[in-house]
Amino acid sequence: MTETPLKHLAVIMDGNGRWAKERGLKRTKGHEQGAEVIRDITTYCANHATIESLTFYAFSTENWKRPKLEVDFLMKLLDRYLKNELKTYQKDNVRFKAIGNLEEFSKPLQKRIKETEEATKDNTKLTQILALNYGGRAEITTAVNQLISQGKQQITEEEISNALQTPYSDIDLLVRTSGEERISNFLLWQLSYAEFIFTPTLWPDFTPKELASLIKNYEQRTRRFGGI
Ligand code: FPP
Repeated sequence: MTETPLKHLAVIMDGNGRWAKERGLKRTKGHEQGAEVIRDITTYCANHATIESLTFYAFSTENWKRPKLEVDFLMKLLDRYLKNELKTYQKDNVRFKAIGNLEEFSKPLQKRIKETEEATKDNTKLTQILALNYGGRAEITTAVNQLISQGKQQITEEEISNALQTPYSDIDLLVRTSGEERISNFLLWQLSYAEFIFTPTLWPDFTPKELASLIKNYEQRTRRFGGI
């Protein structure tokens, strides 16, 4: 049994498009259903004894390459999600945080993100982090440049960790849905000692019940962090 409680769970939500295609629906329907699943999983984690942080890969720096209509839809969906979610964040005592390069989003969307962060900043049960226009290499590069601009000549691991946008804690468990087995430039630094679970379930079909069983799997693993 692992003696390291699951404090930080990270999720790569994949398979929305395939879920929609299987049903003869537009890809956007898959994203809509995916947003519902984010809500259910967040509520589950807010009521889980050990989980403190939950990070979702919601939009990568590469996702801009998708057709403009799909990108526009994802932006609108995010705005709608945050607007509707505020009640649930307060009910579940969840603090919302965004990471990634937010400057490339529209001004109203940036405003919505900032307002949601501000309105939930005193909530204490769980921090839900949405990675938006996020790339792991970019995050590390920005952190290092920030340290250089402070005049640092020698940089320690601790300094890099603290300069990242996600200094909350290392990831304990990464889950990726849809059967793809890669990390796609997500949280490269923070995943150093994480356990990985890849499930074939498509994200819109993922449930709190399946998460509970993946957490059981995590709890049975022995984490050695390089020791024996
Ligand atoms: C991958 O499915 C999913 C994404 C593009 C990121 C996740 C986005 C959502 C769950 C939409 C809602 C998000 C918020 C925050 C409201 P895919 O399109 O790559 O699926 P495919 O590989 O089957 O094509």
